[in-house]
Amino acid sequence: MSKKPSIILLLALCATAVAGTPADAVQWSSYTVDHSQSIAGGLAYTTQVSLSSDALQEYGPSFQQLSVQVTPETAQRLHVRVTPVGQQRWEVPESLVPRPGAEASLSSEQLSYDVLDLAEGHPFALHVIRKADGANIFDTRGHRFLFKDQYIELTTALPADADVYGLGEFTNPKGLMLPRDGTKLALWARDISCANEYANLYGSHPFYIQTNADGSSHGVLLLNSNGMDVSANATALTFKVIGGLVDLYFFTGPTPEEVVRQYHAVIGRPALPPYWSLGLHQSKWGYSNLEYMQEVVANYSAAGLPLETIWSDIDYMHNRFRNAEFDPHRYPVHAMSSFVEGLNSKGQHWVPILDAGVAVSNGYSAYEEGGKDNIWIRDHSGEETFVGQVWPGPAVFPDYMSAPGVAPWLQKKIQRFHAQVPWSGLWLDMNEASNFCSGMNCKPDVAVASNMHWLDMQVPKDGNISVLYKMLSTCVMKCEQPEPSNSLAFPPYAIQNYKGPGQPREAPLSSNAISPTAMHADGSLEYDAHNLYGAAMAKSHYEAAVEVTRKRPFLVSRSTFPGAGRYTAHWTGDNAGNWENLFYSIAGVINSNIWGMPMVGADICGFIDATQDGDPWLNDNRLPDAEYEELCNRWAQAGAFYTFSRNHMGYPARHHEFYRWPSVAAAAGKAYGLRYQLLTYIYSSLFLAHSSGGTVLRPLFFTSPGDTAARHAQQQWMVGDGVLVSPVVTPGTVSISPYFTPGAWYSTWDYSRIHIEGDVGQAVQLDVPLGDIAVHYRGGTIVPLQQYAVVTRDVRVSPVTLVVALPSGTAAEDAAAGVVPPYAAEEFCRSSRQENADRLVACGVLFMDGEEDAPVVTSDNSLQAQFVTVAASDARSGSVTSRVIAAGGDAAAKLQIAAVHVLGVSSSSDAAHLAVRVNGVEVSANDVEFDGATGVLKVSGLQLAAGQSLELHWST
Ligand code: GLC
Repeated sequence: MSKKPSIILLLALCATAVAGTPADAVQWSSYTVDHSQSIAGGLAYTTQVSLSSDALQEYGPSFQQLSVQVTPETAQRLHVRVTPVGQQRWEVPESLVPRPGAEASLSSEQLSYDVLDLAEGHPFALHVIRKADGANIFDTRGHRFLFKDQYIELTTALPADADVYGLGEFTNPKGLMLPRDGTKLALWARDISCANEYANLYGSHPFYIQTNADGSSHGVLLLNSNGMDVSANATALTFKVIGGLVDLYFFTGPTPEEVVRQYHAVIGRPALPPYWSLGLHQSKWGYSNLEYMQEVVANYSAAGLPLETIWSDIDYMHNRFRNAEFDPHRYPVHAMSSFVEGLNSKGQHWVPILDAGVAVSNGYSAYEEGGKDNIWIRDHSGEETFVGQVWPGPAVFPDYMSAPGVAPWLQKKIQRFHAQVPWSGLWLDMNEASNFCSGMNCKPDVAVASNMHWLDMQVPKDGNISVLYKMLSTCVMKCEQPEPSNSLAFPPYAIQNYKGPGQPREAPLSSNAISPTAMHADGSLEYDAHNLYGAAMAKSHYEAAVEVTRKRPFLVSRSTFPGAGRYTAHWTGDNAGNWENLFYSIAGVINSNIWGMPMVGADICGFIDATQDGDPWLNDNRLPDAEYEELCNRWAQAGAFYTFSRNHMGYPARHHEFYRWPSVAAAAGKAYGLRYQLLTYIYSSLFLAHSSGGTVLRPLFFTSPGDTAARHAQQQWMVGDGVLVSPVVTPGTVSISPYFTPGAWYSTWDYSRIHIEGDVGQAVQLDVPLGDIAVHYRGGTIVPLQQYAVVTRDVRVSPVTLVVALPSGTAAEDAAAGVVPPYAAEEFCRSSRQENADRLVACGVLFMDGEEDAPVVTSDNSLQAQFVTVAASDARSGSVTSRVIAAGGDAAAKLQIAAVHVLGVSSSSDAAHLAVRVNGVEVSANDVEFDGATGVLKVSGLQLAAGQSLELHWST
């Protein structure tokens, strides 16, 4: 029962309610506020609004009454849900994105935001501001707000000088920032090469971050899985959505990284990948038999390169691409099993692909059992199984979202697969879900005999089967087409669904997808649930993999949705082997981090060996050999600093395993040499994201959000708090001018220092001959470094050198200059900075767990040590202190800190009077080295268990 709004509530939450109704109000807002009602005595309340005028009637009538539920959930998070009164609407299932709800005992004084303008009789607007500076978080005033069955329109004002980013998945040729020219970006999961610009790609992430000119940032999630277009122009951002609800979460930051952390608290913090998965991966579609794969592994070893994992694409599959079944001639099970056993004994791994579609094939257990278990997505009637076409030809699709029998079916399937050959991880592909046919349901078109011969074709052991692949990706099924009046197949508003170069946008929703008319076991429609297929597949595989292996799973999924990162890593899909795509990969991996999937990479050296318009099967329009070698050299080096680092190529592509060219092998050797030393640092950064949310690969401007020039430094990225990567991404380039934000930066190669004074950054010219890459430690951070080994299991137990990169400014100076301190060591770092405002403070963390990769990290099975350095402002003396948070598992006993390198010690320090004490004991002069010219102090010969506390002092 509704009642009049409480005066107190309105005073608390509607601080600046506008007096009087603007004369043109009804033209912009279709709804007028009726009344508000508080909910159960908390801060939450509901406002009811009524339709006052209806625009765009060609998209159907608007709902008459809406309920607006305003729920302050935390001091930094506000939830607003708008639902039509008396109507059940589709919404993202709790099973995939469990809603966290509101914190208990939250008071209105704690809130960092205010909701305004919900006064009775006023045009309805959502107007949220940040209390601290009055900045708009969301402001629909003056813009149309429509809510119809198949069309929702929602617009918020944007300042012209703000930057907006994080929406996707699409390839933005300009980099991270959303175009502000009104370009409509569609969110509708689609199997299309990510070399296509502004095309809706594999995943859907209706989330963005807005960073204002002064660096203050906030985020907005529209938790909605329906197809939509999002566009931004100079003054506003608009969502046009074809179903579901207006379910909004606002995150008030105010730093971009805090926004991401607040966002992950809603969608779920990222899974921690197993340590081994940080090694180098090699893959190719077209390793047509086992001998071929063995040769690749042997060649890596001969080249002295650290191959950790070899992947099997669909080539391993038996008889028209049956998932999880080996071809008896090309990949005999017994030979595969001893091959993988051999790999494992050397510390290496094997990861196979699983496609979403399941071959319609008699005698195929997964197909036959799935039929009995009734787990397939059904067609529009709800009675028949929906049949489409993918690599196997005719295929059916497991209903991972809601079929009750799907979990036991999947567990059985992957258990059997694992018992045959123990995979270390699973690669989930074609899960948009891709379908090469379009229609409400399809059957093999036996009338077209010429199209059908491939159904019986055996893949020859060594032969070229490109003809077969080409045939398979052309629809040869007879499909029942929907009537033009079918509003699921052809909703009144057509989103900008992309079909391919040169083709009109607004392709039907069924294009290359399961028909939107298809049904799930719980009665939900593919129209609503399409964008969730990949996330549901990832969740199911994660749960099944834990059951089967009892280890922490490693999954890599192509299609994703908010929350998928709790289960899976991601790769950016089918890119092209050219310089543009090397550049695109930077925004691609950063976006994935924002979306909660910090373990991410692009196909290194490119999947499609042709430029955008070229036909990959014809190998036309591709880079000349010499330039391709140069590209792969640069890409090997950049790709060494993706979190997920995999060299992968398409079937017809030129081979580009790193050992193919001596120059590329040398470049890869150098870059992966450093990566492997940084593995535990990367792992620790991933653990931080796993436990607190946030990114690992992040834009440089996250270190100084108010530095607007830094936002255009888009050819670089940070790996965690402490490492900046500045690769070469253009041909014929041996000198670059990467940007550095204020503070101290130290080359990882020779510790040479770059010092940027003041509160804006600057570009610094650096020489980077072919084979070299610029990588720097950031002042203010502590990075654990280990020793290189060819497999990660040997790196993880090797002695640790703590690299302490001193900042150039004191904690107070950095804060005044808008420099964002590291996130590592959290509270220990924060309090040390507060207590030592006039000193130099650096922070870092070391995380390591046991070798068994337990599914859940606890303090009993892991080592978690935090480090803080506090140094005098003249950098002549200081200390490194550890705080051990957990010392469980064998890692705590095995890992030793063997050395500490302090970078940025005052060059005027007196080497003769240098004294270093560790845990109260003076270190012998033989183990102390100081270079006054570079300001580098090296303390070696330590044998400190990483699980014990450390206290090191130096003074001169
Ligand atoms: C898709 C995947 C690609 C894979 C190919 C064959 O195009 O994106 O990585 O190699 O299918 O399975």
